Amino acid sequence: MYRERLQLKPGLLICAARAIFSQERGLNASLPKVVVTRRLPGVSLSGLSERVALAAPPPESPMPPEELLGLVPGAAGILCTLADRIDASLMDAAGPSLKVVSNFAVGVNNVDVAEATRRGIRVCNTPDVLTEATADLGFALLLAAARKFSEAERALRAGEFTGWDPWGFLGVPVYGGTLGIVGLGKIGGAVAARAGGFRMRVLYHNRRRLPPEQEKSLGAEYRGLDALLSESDFVVLCVPLAAESRGMIGRERLARMKRTAVLVNIARGEVVDEGALAEYLAEGRIFAAGLDVYEKEPEIHPSLLAAPSAVLLPHLGSATVETRERMGRFAAENLLAVLAGTEPPCPVN
Ligand code: DGY
Repeated sequence: MYRERLQLKPGLLICAARAIFSQERGLNASLPKVVVTRRLPGVSLSGLSERVALAAPPPESPMPPEELLGLVPGAAGILCTLADRIDASLMDAAGPSLKVVSNFAVGVNNVDVAEATRRGIRVCNTPDVLTEATADLGFALLLAAARKFSEAERALRAGEFTGWDPWGFLGVPVYGGTLGIVGLGKIGGAVAARAGGFRMRVLYHNRRRLPPEQEKSLGAEYRGLDALLSESDFVVLCVPLAAESRGMIGRERLARMKRTAVLVNIARGEVVDEGALAEYLAEGRIFAAGLDVYEKEPEIHPSLLAAPSAVLLPHLGSATVETRERMGRFAAENLLAVLAGTEPPCPVN
């Protein structure tokens, strides 16, 4: 009713409420100011409020960049997600008070870590706790793409299942295939462990080759990237997004893959040239793709949406209740540790 009378848009109303909230919190000048950019599983706001002054109640949806910019002046900490860009201009807006950026993710490509380090700002992340959930999802995408789960389910829901069909939705076999893992870190290693149950041969590519004993325990053979792409039946991307991995899988690299191969991306969308991938799928030059991440999230390349052989998920790698709660607890612990002047559990810099 008041909203109608004041003719305020819902967004403006929320902004106004946040501004009032932040003024009230501003009265408690003894606590360090913290901006939490979104309501997050495992992050207890009442617990945090005993130790820090929250600049505003965290929103249910991603915080618009201009709102974040308006909230950070004087903040000592930012608890953010991969949807928030924490760059030099945001650090400028926060000013010299900023001590810590705690990211609710293992990937920190949304944070300018070099700039933060230069300014003495600690950056923290949430590794380990999401390793198994993300590897589960990578393997699920591999199976789903190899066996055409999405295409077949769409047909069934559309009423097109008219009985068992000896020609329907023929996939490629997973058991006994060759799996190429690009980025054999913790998540890549957990994907390799799952491949053991499917009696797969595992190849890997890293910037630096692992010591022989680690290769042996993971049962993985090293290959140059081009050799891995041409030998593998399944390629799973697990690399962090960095200058060397951005655009790593473009047209020329896709051309090295087998026509029967499946590409899975659980890393970051920017590792793959999505336009080129969509073309390769449309022309049947690779068999299928399983994607959890995209170049311009939340936008999806229209040609990928149109590709029946692409299994597309909305960035779900770490999405289990337990994992997300552990990530939240970890992110809060990282933040509070730095603000208390102690070493955080998971520093990035
Ligand atoms: C991460 O942590 O980097 C994932 O992409 C989100 O859980």
